[in-house]
Amino acid sequence: MNDGSREGSGTAVEAAADSLHVRGISVHFGGIVALDNVSMIAPACQVTGIIGPNGAGKTTLLNVLCGFVKPEHGTVSFAGRELGRVRPHQLAGLGIARTLQGIGLFSGLSVIENVMVGSTSLARAGFWSGLLGLPRSDADERRLRDQAEQALRLVGVADHADAKPDTLAHGLRKRVVLARALVARPRLLLLDEPASGLADAELAELGELITSLARTCTVVVIEHRMDLMMSVCSQIFVLDFGKVIAAGTPEQVQADAAVTNAYLGTDIAAEAGADQADGAVPDAKESSGG
Ligand SMILES: Nc1ncnc2c1ncn2[C@@H]1O[C@H](COP(=O)(O)OP(=O)(O)OP(=O)(O)O)[C@@H](O)[C@H]1O
Ligand SMILES: [Mg+2]
Repeated sequence: MNDGSREGSGTAVEAAADSLHVRGISVHFGGIVALDNVSMIAPACQVTGIIGPNGAGKTTLLNVLCGFVKPEHGTVSFAGRELGRVRPHQLAGLGIARTLQGIGLFSGLSVIENVMVGSTSLARAGFWSGLLGLPRSDADERRLRDQAEQALRLVGVADHADAKPDTLAHGLRKRVVLARALVARPRLLLLDEPASGLADAELAELGELITSLARTCTVVVIEHRMDLMMSVCSQIFVLDFGKVIAAGTPEQVQADAAVTNAYLGTDIAAEAGADQADGAVPDAKESSGG
């Protein structure tokens, strides 16, 4: 990690150990059971998917993985280290990065400055002290800027480095969000709906990018776009009302009747063919209560 490269043989060995273990996680918000005894393993350098209807608990699970939400029960460990007491600001130092559902870029900063914010843990003086003109800031700023440029190149938006995020098309802004997560060279990358708002034509490129990231990084991705998930995930966990109701390869999950039922909110096995009459294939269940 700290040699700036993840391509040498040493980092490959290190990456092989970078699996994520989630055991028996439960979270309640008041009377709402957001997660109910959720367990999963995300193997190193593979893409693990999490799907489920709206309100199923997907984002809550990501929030637990990165320490934003403390579970009432259960443990999370990454690369053999339990993350129980990790504070969000310590994540980058542990090699963990996430993107938020939505965009979440600072509109007052340029694209490259937004990405530099994501790499503050790598700076000796830091981005903010750099802004204040404290010592060492020149060298640090240059280093941060180089790393941010690299990340922007990786996701194909280097040409827009000096633009304000609000002036970019949605698909480009989503890439900037990804660059901000990548700039800290994470070993575990948590993506919450990276494809939301993207046109179908943009999905294939995003899929290739996510697949390429998983060569050196363990990836967990939440997405409603099944076509993307089918192409990038080695395994998928399906949440419904906070429980894992299915897990397996994308093909296994897609063929699982419990999954179809969760999305449709009906027992389609009992209604063979009837669903075609109204053409309803929602990606969200209206009755989830969340
Ligand atoms: N901070 C919170 N306070 C109270 N309830 C919450 C909070 N965060 C989430 N919830 C509730 O927990 C449940 C799970 O929410 P979560 O956001 O994890 O779902 P999700 O699967 O990510 O849904 P979506 O696909 O819509 O993003 C929902 O019922 C939601 O309303
Ligand atoms: Mg969510």
